[in-house]
Order: sequence, then C-alpha cells, then structure tokens
Amino acid sequence: MFITFEGIEGTGKSTQIALLKSHLEARGRSVLVTCEPGGSRIGRELRRVLLSLENRDLCARAELFLYLADRAQHVAQVVRPALEAGKVVLCDRFADSTVAYQAYGRGLDADMLHSLNELAVDGLWPELTILLDLDTRTGVTRAVARNTAEGKTVAEGRFEAESLAFHERVRLGYRAWALRFPQRIRTVDAGGTPEAIAAAIRGIVDQKLEAAPQHA
Ligand code: TYD
Repeated sequence: MFITFEGIEGTGKSTQIALLKSHLEARGRSVLVTCEPGGSRIGRELRRVLLSLENRDLCARAELFLYLADRAQHVAQVVRPALEAGKVVLCDRFADSTVAYQAYGRGLDADMLHSLNELAVDGLWPELTILLDLDTRTGVTRAVARNTAEGKTVAEGRFEAESLAFHERVRLGYRAWALRFPQRIRTVDAGGTPEAIAAAIRGIVDQKLEAAPQHA
C-alpha cells in the first residue's frame, strides 16, 4: 500500500508520518518512510540544488524538471521495490506537490503537469493521499520557526522565503486538486492536536487497508 502526505509547510507531516508508522508497525506491517525531494541517492543531490537559497535564479521550468527527475528516480529505485517487497510506503510529498507548487504556486498549467507526473511515476500512483490542511499563516510561521531552530535557513530555505501569497495559492491549489481526485485525496484538518489529527488519519488508513488487504 502506497500512502502519500501533502500540505503546505508547517502542517506537521513528518510528525504524522512517524505516528502512523508506529501504528502500522504495531499492527504487524512492515513500513518504509521516505520523502520527496531526496528519497534516493541521486534525489538527495537534486534536493540540495532545489532547496538552496543560493539557487534563487532557478527558473520555474528547470525547477519543475528537477522535481520530476527526483520523482522518477525515487519511484524506480525506492518506492516500487519496497511495494514489491510487501511494505507499506509512507511518502512525505509526492506528485501532488508538483501540481500545488509548480502549477498553482508558480503559474504553470496544472493539466500539463499532471501529464508530466504520469510520465514520472510510470503508473505508480498512491492508493491514498492524506492532505493536511492548515491556515497558511499558521503553517508558514511554524515552518520558519522550525528551520531557524535547525539552522536550515540558508541551505534549505528557498520555499520558506516565498511570500505568504505564494503559500496561499499552494494551499488553495491543494484544495482544488483534492476535489478533482476525491477517492484518492482525503483532506484532514491539521489545526487540532497532533493526537486528534493522528486519530483521524488512522481511521482513514485502517479503512483503506481493510478494503484492500491484497495491496498491504
Ligand atoms: P521539505 O523540507 O521537504 O518541506 P516540508 O518540510 O514542508 O515538506 O522541502 C520540500 C520543498 O519542496 C517544499 O517547500 C515543497 C517543495 N516541492 C515542490 O515545490 N514541488 C514538488 O514536486 C515537491 C516534491 C516539493
């Protein structure tokens, strides 16, 4: 079973992924946690290029193709083999990030990017995507505080340095995209306590696993 997590910065994706991993492992599942960009060796090189503040001059189309390259390599080398080995794969960001950030955020065409995602994922779409939805100002404020605390500002701050308006477009883009794929993308309110959010996610995931045990 392939599950992806999406949302603007600061929605608590990594916390929720860790909580879901523990829950699934307690139920006897073997779980792989991974992320984009940077889920493969080559991807980690691409991640550095993508997120460094030194690369403010990266143009929108070049940025797009680097994310797609990261995804193609990640699917081929990490995600598909893990699924074939029977694992549950939990991925922090995937194809919907490209639509939200590069289409709704940067202004490229969403349908065209969906087609390019088709090429990159090579038939491997998530069975379930959890969209953590949060007020933009709250999310971005949290992300900036976290990055400053971790000293990541120069190395990985390129997106946090974007305007609030950019992140608001990304958030609305995610919401629009969730309406387009209502079976796959399930929106969870990320404004509650971590435990309340985790319980909502567990409910959705357990239902999905019961409905499709052959993919587990
Ligand atoms: P990351 O540190 O993983 O952000 P977060 O902790 O918020 O998940 O950085 C990934 C950044 O890359 C994030 O700002 C979103 C952006 N991104 C895209 O613009 N397009 C994409 O396709 C992906 C996967 C990420």
